[in-house]
Amino acid sequence: MTFVANLLAGKTAFVAGGTSGINLAIARGLATYGARVGVFSRNPERVAHATAELQAIRPDAAGFVGDVRDYASAEQALAAFHATAGPIDIVVSGAAGNFICPANQLSPNGFRTVVDIDLMGTFNVLRAAYPMLRRPGASLINISAPQSTEAFWGQAHVSAAKAGVDMLTKSLAVEWGREGIRVNGIVPGPIEGTEGVSRLAPTPEIREAWEKGNPMQRMGTGEEVANTALFLCSAAASYVNGTIIYCDGGQVLGGPRDYSESWHALQAAARTK
Ligand code: HXC
Repeated sequence: MTFVANLLAGKTAFVAGGTSGINLAIARGLATYGARVGVFSRNPERVAHATAELQAIRPDAAGFVGDVRDYASAEQALAAFHATAGPIDIVVSGAAGNFICPANQLSPNGFRTVVDIDLMGTFNVLRAAYPMLRRPGASLINISAPQSTEAFWGQAHVSAAKAGVDMLTKSLAVEWGREGIRVNGIVPGPIEGTEGVSRLAPTPEIREAWEKGNPMQRMGTGEEVANTALFLCSAAASYVNGTIIYCDGGQVLGGPRDYSESWHALQAAARTK
């Protein structure tokens, strides 16, 4: 138990978007396992709330207010964290924006806004962090989404942005690997209690269909995504670079379509013949 709790002892971790949902769960996991954590997001109240929660785990946790869309603001927050915490071992880029809107009704600014937050935001955070990273040893994790490889109605802007995030993950892995910097991604499936799920599954019917369409018949938890991040930034993943890990209960294998009930009915009918 002591060994596990010290998994990230002496490490520093900066989590963009780390004040709510999956990213806060990751920040919580990193702090619990011994990392000194800094979280960064737009909303000052959320930053204050998340920082207080993380300080209950580790008193040296810090919060920074800013917008990933603004390179200078990301750089300023990273520099402030770096100045007190030292070389940065772990960066999680998870700030994201989402809403459902079919492309033929979406304004160019709506499309740009999501691309700016997800894709430009990830570039800004990782590019600004680059000179401050520990070499060798830094681990960078980009939070992607199922939309990066699957097309969903009303999600063209998110798919375009997250597909870009995945290619950025792979490109930086190729460029920065020689410096001992690993860059990987995580695709979380539907995760309980997140803003993403409440936006994309706003009714109990949609939620139930989503759960039924998942091979594990349930949504995941923030802690399960945090555990995937813990693997990626630990020494256990020292040769894992440029990979995108799905933490989705296997949803990507079957997509959102669930034919299992009619399939079981057919099987039952065949057995009685
Ligand atoms: C159509 C919309 C819209 C909507 C905003 N816009 N919401 N268009 N339908 N529901 C348009 C606006 O009209 C505007 O274009 C442009 O987008 C910018 O809107 P703002 O409100 O000015 O942007 P901003 O205040 O910067 O807010 C960004 C946001 C917002 C993305 C729109 O929703 C936000 O802050 N979201 C952050 C939290 C979040 O989304 N979390 C979920 C992430 S989940 P015009 O042309 O009018 O100027 C995720 C993966 C989920 O990413 C995967 C689940 C499996």
